[in-house]
Amino acid sequence: MLKKWVAEDMHKILKEYLKYEEILEIIEIPANDNFGDFSFPTFTLSKLFRKSPEDIAENIKEGFQSELVVKTEVINGFVNFHIDRQKGGSLIMNEIGRESYGKTKHLQGQKLVMDFSSPNIAKPFSMGHLRATILGDSLSKILEQNSAKVTGINHLGDWGTQFGKLIVAYTKWGEKKAVEADPIKELFQLYTHFHIEAEKNPSLDDEAREAFSKLELGHKEYTELWQWFRDVSMVAFELLYNQLNVSFDHIQGESFYNKHLSQTVELLEEKNLLEYDDGAYIIRLNGIPPALIKKRDGASLYITRDVAAMLYRVEKYEADKILYVVGQEQSIHFEQLSQVAEMLDVKTEIEHIPFGMILKNGKKMSTRKGEVVLLEDIIKDVAERALQVISDKNPKLKDKELAAGKIAIGAIKFHDLKNDRMNSYDFNIEDMLKFDGETATYVNYTNSRIQSILRKNMTGTESGFVSEDSMWPILKHMSSYEEVLVEAANRYSPSVICKYVMQLCRLFNTYYGQGRIIGSSNEKSKLMLLQMISRNIKEAMKLLGIETMDSM
Ligand code: ARG
Repeated sequence: MLKKWVAEDMHKILKEYLKYEEILEIIEIPANDNFGDFSFPTFTLSKLFRKSPEDIAENIKEGFQSELVVKTEVINGFVNFHIDRQKGGSLIMNEIGRESYGKTKHLQGQKLVMDFSSPNIAKPFSMGHLRATILGDSLSKILEQNSAKVTGINHLGDWGTQFGKLIVAYTKWGEKKAVEADPIKELFQLYTHFHIEAEKNPSLDDEAREAFSKLELGHKEYTELWQWFRDVSMVAFELLYNQLNVSFDHIQGESFYNKHLSQTVELLEEKNLLEYDDGAYIIRLNGIPPALIKKRDGASLYITRDVAAMLYRVEKYEADKILYVVGQEQSIHFEQLSQVAEMLDVKTEIEHIPFGMILKNGKKMSTRKGEVVLLEDIIKDVAERALQVISDKNPKLKDKELAAGKIAIGAIKFHDLKNDRMNSYDFNIEDMLKFDGETATYVNYTNSRIQSILRKNMTGTESGFVSEDSMWPILKHMSSYEEVLVEAANRYSPSVICKYVMQLCRLFNTYYGQGRIIGSSNEKSKLMLLQMISRNIKEAMKLLGIETMDSM
């Protein structure tokens, strides 16, 4: 907000040359505050102003007027602005206290569909799906905070040739009881077993194809089996979603679009996009492999169902954009989808939001190689470790187990989201629980410190805040929160928020180390500041899908 205020005042004198938004873009925050709180470089503006940078800077300095700025100086072609810290501080506190703090109108009027999480039934929830879940959930919240209307959809992988395989495998080797006892593990083992057997006996693949064909045509027994696979998988997934505290507006898996497939193919035909190719139907695309729409045996494919889903979403949710939070290994698939959309004259933007991998000691971390390691077991490990860590730190803490569970989930999420999403990262339990790292634990610990001071000394939110120089770095940081929200939305990057909240915690801890709060002069203002910091931490963490602890 501070930056905006300065930009507004600058706009008054630069109206003829620059738009307000352009000014906002140009303004920088000097790393060293000897050079002011904000500065305005003039080098790139010579042409526009028909003057040398020095002259531009001098002219700005002369003309500039602002109640907030105590000193304006020109150094090397920069105009540097020094904010009145008392006045600025009180104004910032005022804004932070408002209901509207931490909400922007940046995406007002936009309707977005967020396709995220989307695990495959009858298979373990993979680490890739974990990342898609955490990222998609946080992004939905960030976009909503910027006033977009977001519809979150879980595009469950519940259709496709693999169910032909599973049906064959279950019919040959499966046992009802075993599946009921441990559905995902058992179904996945059947599936794996199918692959081993099919290597020796390729006719199994034909059987599977036939089974899937029948399933697509509504074969009664097969449909019942499939429904059962789906139901038991959903029970397991729901448990995970509850633990992760993630929900969807709709769970519309691939099978949901079965009833739309024939009309989708007809539309593609009408538009003359389909090409007959050796018994199958394809769409030729630009610079990437063609999209296979219909197999020789008439079966639909992943992309067919995605085209149908896209058309459905365009119509049903009047989406301006459909965002797909899916690993980068599927980038060609989404390029195909977006080219098909263009050929169909769809106005909705198709945007793939890719991300890197979760690694273990530098290698891709898999929940499925060899014996099945399930995500719920991984979460359990983190929670056990978290319990140890907090017990060591605070043996007297109440409801430790419950707290450890929450801390574990927060730690896993933060450890993921703090990375630029394209980067792969190592899933390191020790690291994610460190009190002195870039972790949710550090944030939780900082917030608990603040809360313990506030609990003992609450004054209520009164007016009459008196700003002090030592508070300035914190206030200035908090004044940039809106810009951070916009940046996080523009880059689809929760890491921007993680960095913001980490820095806020660091600034608080430095401030807190500088001297007494309770019993000092200006105690009330200090408590007010603490209250706002804690509130800001919690709101920012909420956008990451993390519940902040008040004591730990
Ligand atoms: N189920 C797919 C997979 O695990 C991801 C689906 C992503 N969403 C989509 N609309 N294709 O690979």
